[in-house]
Amino acid sequence: MASHGPVGVFDSGVGGLSVLREIRARLPGESLIYLADSGHVPYGEKSQAFIRERCQVIARFLLERGAKALVVACNTATAAGIVELREHYPDLPLVGMEPAVKPAARATRSGVVGVLATTGTLQSAKFAALLDRFASDVRVVTQPCPGLVECIEAGALDAAHTRRLLEGFVAPLLEAGCDTLILGCTHYPFIKPLLREMLPDDISLIDTGEAVARRLEALLDDKGPRLPATGAVEFWSSGDPRRLEEVLPALWGEAAAVSFFSG
Ligand code: DGL
Repeated sequence: MASHGPVGVFDSGVGGLSVLREIRARLPGESLIYLADSGHVPYGEKSQAFIRERCQVIARFLLERGAKALVVACNTATAAGIVELREHYPDLPLVGMEPAVKPAARATRSGVVGVLATTGTLQSAKFAALLDRFASDVRVVTQPCPGLVECIEAGALDAAHTRRLLEGFVAPLLEAGCDTLILGCTHYPFIKPLLREMLPDDISLIDTGEAVARRLEALLDDKGPRLPATGAVEFWSSGDPRRLEEVLPALWGEAAAVSFFSG
């Protein structure tokens, strides 16, 4: 494994770009390879076995391209596949994502926390274990959000239909008395402005991108000194690369060429 190799980051689609931004901000010297599995998005309603297989295929590809560490920038893929990835690559620095139940349980004043996430994440054994571990003193109200990832993939971050869908997901959480909402899917930070518009000011939103970047930094620090230069960033998609190229300026902050991943 090349110690100066890139960090491989993947998601079912564009959601992991919200994590990639945090990694870039914290570790600008690292070269990054981002893979959007857009040919198979959304993961949220797919079987755990299917997602586990995608994790293996994508990890193999990123490692073949020299990745020295992997970030599973997807809650749904982490819930389904990270245990197997750790088994396959026991020496590889590997960071996954999970809904921020622990910080939310600490932050809530009303004692009611809402979780917006995919069906796959909310139904996973990993999520159940997370609740057992950190949410015994609070009430947790979960809300699957089918259809929302597709809106974000299409770049419809503040379209009328995205707003209508989101209002329907948020209403039961507000009715239940949640004062803290966990964004349990890496796509959702992109609709934070829309959420802020529809939520009362005293509702907190919590996501995990920054914590994941910090965790990656700690794992890389164990391996050696930080790189002073600015790293390169490479983008791949298993869907139509032009679709990702179209949304990169809005979601990543600059234009870039995207290569096709046929795996
Ligand atoms: N971005 C992903 C997550 O964090 C999954 C979205 C999807 O493909 O359904 O859960």
